[in-house]
Amino acid sequence: MQDFSGKVAVITGAASGIGLGCARTFARAGMKVALCDLRADALEHAVANVRALGGEAIGIPTDVSRHESVEHAAGEVVRAFGKIHVAMNNAGVVLRGLPMTDVSDNAWNWVLGVNLYGVIHGIQSFVPLIRAHGEGGHVVNTASMAGLHVGDRQTGAYSASKFAVVSLTEALEKDLAGTNIGVSVLTPAAVATDIYSNSAGLRAGLAEPNPFPETPPDIAAGLTPDQVGERVLAGIRAGQFYLITHPDTRSWVMQRHTRLMAAYDFAEAWEAEQKVQG
Ligand SMILES: NC(=O)c1ccc[n+]([C@@H]2O[C@H](COP(=O)([O-])OP(=O)(O)OC[C@H]3O[C@@H](n4cnc5c(N)ncnc54)[C@H](O)[C@@H]3O)[C@@H](O)[C@H]2O)c1
Repeated sequence: MQDFSGKVAVITGAASGIGLGCARTFARAGMKVALCDLRADALEHAVANVRALGGEAIGIPTDVSRHESVEHAAGEVVRAFGKIHVAMNNAGVVLRGLPMTDVSDNAWNWVLGVNLYGVIHGIQSFVPLIRAHGEGGHVVNTASMAGLHVGDRQTGAYSASKFAVVSLTEALEKDLAGTNIGVSVLTPAAVATDIYSNSAGLRAGLAEPNPFPETPPDIAAGLTPDQVGERVLAGIRAGQFYLITHPDTRSWVMQRHTRLMAAYDFAEAWEAEQKVQG
């Protein structure tokens, strides 16, 4: 996708952080932007922020973990702007600092409900509408470096949700091969957002302690959301699938692949030994 002026983008989790950074970037590129989020007050501020840039924007209170809520949002975007060209399934929450034995079913359901089902619902509701008008478009699903590499932060549920987003986005690219709809998966490392405090405010009813209610220093020192927005726009324009925002994370992925290749070496040696013995 090359031409953004006058096109329509819908972004979930757009009341703050990366979603808002992308809304601002898309608006600067001349797009009309529909911002969806669970936090209605923050959403209002975000819409005002995008409008202050001269952008055409609407806000739609949405719970991405509920299929019917995302379906309703999709209808509202079409009602306001006529079409959808770019869908960014970005809403997310974080759960960090607990071994998985201490993570309850409620917490798993919360993390998977937002981070994984939120993306699934966006694919179900937005993609058919992009296909319907035939003008083409792009789908961006927000995963994380935690979807390409498991760090040592005790983020098992978060990481599982993000690995799933990477794999289902790879599958979506295959589903849409040969169409004029591009697909990307966004895999940032640290971005300076309020995801920790926002998630703390949204985790009502969870029994487990929250070791990280405030923004940790590594996140505070991350890229700005607008820098990520510019990276996403450049990635869409270039038709790139993996949107890597932090080139310095190359070694994280290499470590995982080196381990996998070592496992292949072991398997080959084992198979050869079996043949000799057999
Ligand atoms: N900040 C980082 O370092 C970082 C790194 C990698 C990936 N990410 C991912 O980027 C995405 C955006 O996060 P962010 O860092 O901008 O944080 P953020 O908290 O600013 O944005 C996430 C938004 O999702 C919204 N949200 C939560 N539950 C929702 C629900 N059920 N329905 C609708 N909206 C809901 C929140 O209200 C919030 O506005 C997330 O998917 C996150 O996992 C963030």
